[in-house]
Amino acid sequence: MDAHIETRIEIIRQHLIDPEICIRCNTCEETCPIDAITHDGANYVVNAEVCNGCMACVPPCPTGAIDNWRNVLRSEAYSVDDQFGWEALPAQNEAVSTPVEVPAQDDEALVASDTVRGSTVAPWSAARPYVQLYTHKAPALATVVGNYRLTDAAAPSDIHHIVLDFGALPFPVLEGQSIGVLPPGTSADGRAHHVRQYSIASPRDGERPGYNNLSLTVKRVQREGDNGNGNGNGNGNGNGNGNGNGVCSNYLCDLQKGDVVTVIGPFGNTFLMPNHPDSHLLMICTGTGSAPMRAMTEYRRRRRATGETGKLMLFFGARTRGELPYFGPLMSLPKDFIDTNLAFSRTPGEAKRYVQDAMRERADDVAQLLGDGNTHVYVCGLRGMEDGVMQALESIARSHSLDWPALWERLRREGRLHLETY
Ligand code: FAD
Ligand code: A2P
Repeated sequence: MDAHIETRIEIIRQHLIDPEICIRCNTCEETCPIDAITHDGANYVVNAEVCNGCMACVPPCPTGAIDNWRNVLRSEAYSVDDQFGWEALPAQNEAVSTPVEVPAQDDEALVASDTVRGSTVAPWSAARPYVQLYTHKAPALATVVGNYRLTDAAAPSDIHHIVLDFGALPFPVLEGQSIGVLPPGTSADGRAHHVRQYSIASPRDGERPGYNNLSLTVKRVQREGDNGNGNGNGNGNGNGNGNGNGVCSNYLCDLQKGDVVTVIGPFGNTFLMPNHPDSHLLMICTGTGSAPMRAMTEYRRRRRATGETGKLMLFFGARTRGELPYFGPLMSLPKDFIDTNLAFSRTPGEAKRYVQDAMRERADDVAQLLGDGNTHVYVCGLRGMEDGVMQALESIARSHSLDWPALWERLRREGRLHLETY
C-alpha cells in the first residue's frame, strides 16, 4: 500500500472541548445526536471513537469552548480519561499537523442541527461583537462599583445588581452578550474553580452612559432547603463549594465596593439585538433571564429620542412581584415605549401564571408581531420555560393562520429567534 495514503488515513482531526473556557452548561451533551459527548465532575469531553465531526454541537455552545480541534494519529487519539484529567488543552503536535479534510455533515447531523431550536446566526443588522478578548491566560480585572439587592428583603430569592468597572481597560460589549467570571479558590479536588457565565444587563455604552462599566443580574444559588429555591443547572458537575451553595453566585452577591473580579470574555455572537430602527423586540424571560432584556430595553430607551419606531413587547415571569428583578424601574417605563406583561406564579390567593399563559392572553398582539418580518424574538431564563414558550408561540401562530413550521424556520434562518436558557 502507498505509504503516503496510509499516513493520511491514520491522522484524524480530533474534536476537543477547551476546559478553560467551558462553563459546563451541558448544551453540547444535550445537542450531540450520537452521544459522543460526556462529562465527569471536572470536564466535558468528546469520545473520539464515537464523534463523527458532524458539528451539530458547535453553534449552540455559548462560549466557543466546543470548537477546538487537534490533528492526531488515530492510534494516539486522546482518550476520554485523558481529557477528564485536563486543566488546559494540549498544544498541537506539529509532527502530525498535516491538514486533514473536515468531515462533511452527514444526513443525520443535518437532521440534528435542525433540532437546534433557535437561530445560530445574529440578526442581519446587529453590530459586530468582540468575543474572547480576555482569556484564562490573560483575563481582565474589574472593580466592583456597586452591588445591591434587587428582590424584596422578605423575598426568598436573593438577586443582586452588580456593577463592574474596567477602568482604562477596553471591554467592548453588546446587549445580549455575557462575560465569564473566575471565582477565586479551588474545588474539593484542588483544581481552580471553573468559569461561570453571566449575561450583561447594561447597554453597550455602559451601565452609566459613557462609562467603561457593565452590570450583571445575579441570583444567589443556595442549597435546596436554605431558601427553598436551589436552582442550579442540575448538570451534576460537582464543582460546588462543598456546602451545596453555588460557588460563583455567592461570591458575586457578597462582593463589596472596591473588590476586584477576574473576568474573561465577552462571549456571544448570535444573541444580539437588531440595529435597524424599525425592528421589533419580542422578549420573554424569567428571573435573571431579564438581564439581556434590560440591556436591550435600556439601549432602545436611550435612543428613543432618535425617533426609532420599533415596538418592544416584554413577557416577564417571577414567583411574586417582590421577586421580580427591576420591578420598580420597569413599571416606570412609558407604556407607549414598552408593552410589559408580568406573570406571577406564587402570589398568594392568585392562580399560578407563567409567561406562556400571559403570551396566550395577548395572542392577537403576539401573532401580529410574529407575522412581521422585522420582529426578533428573545427567550432567556429557566431552562424549563423553553418548551412552554415554544409551544405558546406555535399555538398562537397556528390559531392566527400563520404557517408555524415555515415561520419557525424563517425566524431561525434570519437570526430572529434567540434562546438562552440555563
Ligand atoms: P455552582 O457552584 O456551579 O453550583 C450549581 C448547582 O450545584 C447548585 O444547584 C448548587 O446548589 C449545586 N451544588 C454545588 N455544590 C454542591 C454540592 N457539594 N453538593 C450538592 N450540590 C451542590 N446566572 C445568573 O444569576 N445571572 C445571569 O445573568 C446568568 N446568565 C447565564 C447565561 C448563560 C449563557 C449561562 C449558561 C448561565 C447563566 N447563569 C446566570 C448561570 C450561572 O452561570 C451559574 O450557573 C449560576 O450562577 C450558578 O453558579 P454557582 O457557581 O453559584 O453554582
Ligand atoms: P414556579 O413558581 O413554578 O417556580 P425562579 O424564581 O425559580 O427563577 O423562577 C422564575 C419564574 O419562572 C417563577 O415564576 C417560576 O414558577 C417560573 N417557572 C418555573 N417553571 C417554568 C416553566 N416551565 N415555564 C415558565 N415559567 C416557569
